[in-house]
Amino acid sequence: MAGKTNNKKLMKWIDEIAALCKPDGIHICDGSQEEYDRLAQKMVDHGTAIRLNEKLRPNSFLVRSDVADVARVEGRTFICAETPEEAGPTNHWNDPAEMKSTLHPLFQGSMKGRTMYIIPFSMGPIGSPISHIGIEITDSEYVVNNMRIMTRMGQKVLDVLGADGDFVQCLHSVGKPLEEDEPDVPWPCNAENKYITHFPQTKEIWSYGSGYGGNALLGKKCFALRIASVMAREEGWLAEHMLILGLTSPEGEKKYIAAAFPSACGKTNLAMLVPTIPGWKVECVGDDIAWMKFGDDGRLYAINPEAGFFGVAPGTSMNSNPNALLSLTKNSIFTNVALTPDGDVWWEEMTDAKPAKLTDWNGLDWTPASEKKAAHPNARFTAPASQCPVIDPAWEDPKGVPISAILFGGRRSSVVPLIHEAFDWNHGVFLGSIMTSETTSAAAGQVGKLRRDPFAMLPFCGYHMGDYFSHWIGIGKKSSPDKLPKIFYVNWFRKSPEGKWLWPGYGENSRVLKWVFERVSGTAQAEKTAIGNIPAKGSLTLDGMDISPGFLEQLLSVNNEEWKNELPGIEEHYERFGDRLPKELTEQLDALKKRLG
Ligand code: GTP
Ligand code: SPV
Ligand code: MN
Repeated sequence: MAGKTNNKKLMKWIDEIAALCKPDGIHICDGSQEEYDRLAQKMVDHGTAIRLNEKLRPNSFLVRSDVADVARVEGRTFICAETPEEAGPTNHWNDPAEMKSTLHPLFQGSMKGRTMYIIPFSMGPIGSPISHIGIEITDSEYVVNNMRIMTRMGQKVLDVLGADGDFVQCLHSVGKPLEEDEPDVPWPCNAENKYITHFPQTKEIWSYGSGYGGNALLGKKCFALRIASVMAREEGWLAEHMLILGLTSPEGEKKYIAAAFPSACGKTNLAMLVPTIPGWKVECVGDDIAWMKFGDDGRLYAINPEAGFFGVAPGTSMNSNPNALLSLTKNSIFTNVALTPDGDVWWEEMTDAKPAKLTDWNGLDWTPASEKKAAHPNARFTAPASQCPVIDPAWEDPKGVPISAILFGGRRSSVVPLIHEAFDWNHGVFLGSIMTSETTSAAAGQVGKLRRDPFAMLPFCGYHMGDYFSHWIGIGKKSSPDKLPKIFYVNWFRKSPEGKWLWPGYGENSRVLKWVFERVSGTAQAEKTAIGNIPAKGSLTLDGMDISPGFLEQLLSVNNEEWKNELPGIEEHYERFGDRLPKELTEQLDALKKRLG
């Protein structure tokens, strides 16, 4: 069976791309289980996927990528706006026509020997007024099956699209055409020649050469963040790199919180955490992306445009994140994790004891004595969100959920306290704009390097970052302070001078969430510092927690001298945006300088 469409724009585009890419066959995806199973079997037959033990991990697969295709490639990601100014100083820019003429010869015949798949998908619940439809054309079965988990995909989307509906064009090729009789490789890609390109004017995405994650599953970072951020700016809403969670107090009161942390900095973990404080409950709406719009009541409502989790595997355990592990007990795809002798998966820290024998992510024998990691640090699981034991009852509500608080945060081993609260909206935007974090293996390149990552959107903002800051300032003017979310900044990653984590993190982060909840309710006490409000003595619940008073003091400390040392870096960061930096942020920086004395 195959999907059926009478959409004029789509039929024309399929013909055009087929003529360009010259695939051996064309398949319009219907999104059925039968189709998924068939493509999974095709991957198994080709040596791309390994079927996991049906008893231990039903209907699940392990895939090992090429060693040169393991993460997003920010250096090969382009925003092809009409002018370099529109893309801004934080994006790689190329002229749209020039980029198309670079890409055309690459896509010319790029699907030879392969099937071209047409993936109709909806970001957001199908038919909801906040949702948007995209069509991804790809020559990768791996992409098709991942997209079936990550989005609402198939015939039902074509039905909504009808004859005249519009969609975002997402073109993808792994860039490895096959000559006649040329044997395929398990993970086809074109490692030396990757292009992840975006055309905001025409709302198109062309991605070439990579089959991995955000480079290839085009609904995610390319559409739901880079292109959607442009749409959001045009239409007055927000497309953000944020988790969304529901937090319920012992009294049964519920508030929703969104949080922007950079890649591999704790969104999935926070989104479904198991609170260590009795009586509190966290439920998950989304773990990576939030689209937020104002409701008629003047509050911001968030939806999760995705339908699955593409989560970091290493570090995920029944101790650190049981709800993630329970989400991927079946119907999941694992990429670049290790394989156990009985046909299950393993990764670093999944279990306390390391298995005696494994096959590592390169397909090589591994024992605990091996020097190399068994799983790649950016190994990922793809699992249906519906399988999460704490998925929020409202996670598919087309209205979205009302957001009471927004958290910003990153990996900072020093300076930044466990939590501080913004004085008001503009101050909160200031905090988002100066976010810094150590780089992680979610993107190719150096790990552990401190960099500015405003709003966790550095790699994902589809236009000039200065204009993005202005857009955030503008959002604050559209409603009243009592209706806007309160803004906070958290840091789970502060270390002692000896290099020890000061804060245990994970489930213990519920203590910080409780303080946020109570600040929103107006019940928790705060102490004003130069950088914002921190918990007053005794207002952070620490019952039942083993933390030394010394550590707590270091965690919450705001050292004005250290913060003064931050100022030149902030100024330098701001200078990049020239006159596109909103004056409100200059005012915030001046006010911070004054408070620091
Ligand atoms: P992307 O999917 O890349 O956007 O990442 P994410 O923000 O969802 O990151 P995730 O929750 O998967 O966390 C990535 C890493 O951070 C894992 O290795 C975790 O073990 C670690 N981590 C998450 N939460 C905490 C925490 O509270 N404390 C500490 N120390 N580490 C944490
Ligand atoms: C991230 O890097 O922020 C991710 C993983 O969520 S990817 O989909 O590869 O972008
Ligand atoms: Mn992410």
